[in-house]
Amino acid sequence: MMQSLVTMSYIVASSLFILSLIGLNHHKTASRGNYYGIAGMALAIFATILSNIVASYSMLIISLLIGGLIGARAALKVEMTQMPELIAIMHSLVGMTAILVGYANLFEYSPILNVVEKKIHSFEAFIGIFIGAITFAGSVIAFGKLRGRISGKPILLPGRHGINIVLLISIIYLGYLFIIASQSGGGLWPLSLAVIIAIIFGIHMVMAIGGADMPIVVSMLNSYSGWAAAATGFMLSNDLLIITGALVGSSGAILSYIMCKAMNRNFINVILGGFGNTGGIGSTKIKGDVISIQVNELVKMLRDANNIMIIPGYGMAVAQAQHAVYELSRQLIKRNKKVGFAIHPVAGRMPGHMNVLLAEAKVAYDIVYEMDEVNDDFSKIDITIVIGANDIVNPAALYDPNSPIAGMPVLQCWKGNHTIVLKRSMATGYAGVSNPMFVHENTSMLFGDANDSLKSVINEL
Ligand code: TAP
Repeated sequence: MMQSLVTMSYIVASSLFILSLIGLNHHKTASRGNYYGIAGMALAIFATILSNIVASYSMLIISLLIGGLIGARAALKVEMTQMPELIAIMHSLVGMTAILVGYANLFEYSPILNVVEKKIHSFEAFIGIFIGAITFAGSVIAFGKLRGRISGKPILLPGRHGINIVLLISIIYLGYLFIIASQSGGGLWPLSLAVIIAIIFGIHMVMAIGGADMPIVVSMLNSYSGWAAAATGFMLSNDLLIITGALVGSSGAILSYIMCKAMNRNFINVILGGFGNTGGIGSTKIKGDVISIQVNELVKMLRDANNIMIIPGYGMAVAQAQHAVYELSRQLIKRNKKVGFAIHPVAGRMPGHMNVLLAEAKVAYDIVYEMDEVNDDFSKIDITIVIGANDIVNPAALYDPNSPIAGMPVLQCWKGNHTIVLKRSMATGYAGVSNPMFVHENTSMLFGDANDSLKSVINEL
């Protein structure tokens, strides 16, 4: 009776996770999607507590309390701009869990299995531990890079593809040795050696990636963490973990594919760890004079303009300028101006970063456009206001084949009548590449913190 209740709960929880993913597909339904996810997870935890796999309730409650408190504190403390780092470190925990559960399961698991079942079980454990080790190590390095503790520049060892292949072949061979040895209760050494090599592989893979390719890495690691969980689910014969892991794994892979397309990177290269790195850093030299303007000049231009596009970037998140941006758009719309927001798929530091901030500030969804919806229309725009963005509006991506961001589609706002860029200095952005648009004759720079500049513009208006 209890077991069928648990199975029912798992089915309902799985359905809630699927509904959650569907909800998260669109801004309008995103918060509903979140509630489905929360309900699904609460049900999953509750059903697991009721199931007969719990050996010690006191251990379970202590673990839940410690994990819950750490999670709640991290979620309350984290700034929106630190979200990708939090996600990266959470992935590392999933990876670590897969390793620990794998080891514990190998030492504790004792049902009577026949030879084939035993081999399959060892194989499942090995896959879970192997993917877990790569996810753990890769996510820790990604965290370090996103937080700036490790240089964001790619570290490319000579013959790195060869090194990767040798590491992978060694892992497969050690896996084979482990599966054979585990039939007679052994296999600890080949398994542990494989874990060490998988950790080196994960570190090497992510160290070789830098600049604008980091978002793809974070979503790939998200996918890996899902597959690690699914493999752990097979190992523990837990259907819910298999389903949830597969959902995370496949949605992470789909997101990586979408981001690869958005950034013109090759998906197969990404999967193989041969992440696109197109060479020299910052090869584009800026030649020309910067035109700097003051708030009153911008306000005058805005009064004369009819068609205005706003492009938010990472700097808007840093300055927390989303509320001021909304207020400016409201004031302009009140003055019968046509206002739109153009969102680049990798603006900011996480997928949907700008959409989340604009939604928080209550910007209407129907004036928020994706890159492909507006990129051909900039010639009709009187003024584009770029708020704390750099890489996503860099023409070097299109015109400089040696640029590290060469081939990445960008918002072509320089084709409009006039572009105003709000940022604090001429500093480069995430990819460390200079932006020649900043010295175009139809670009003006309004220097200062984006939030302060926007508030001054609103006052003057
Ligand atoms: P960036 O190219 O990083 O440029 C942001 C700009 O904001 C900087 O040049 C900075 O210039 C300015 N800024 C910072 N604080 C500011 C403030 N308080 N007020 C005004 N300006 C401020 O950002 P982007 O154009 O959004 O491009 C995103 C980049 O991040 C891409 O390279 C992308 O690949 C990468 N990335 C994206 C993701 C995802 S999934 N979205 C994840 C990781 C990495 P100043 O210092 O001169 O002010």
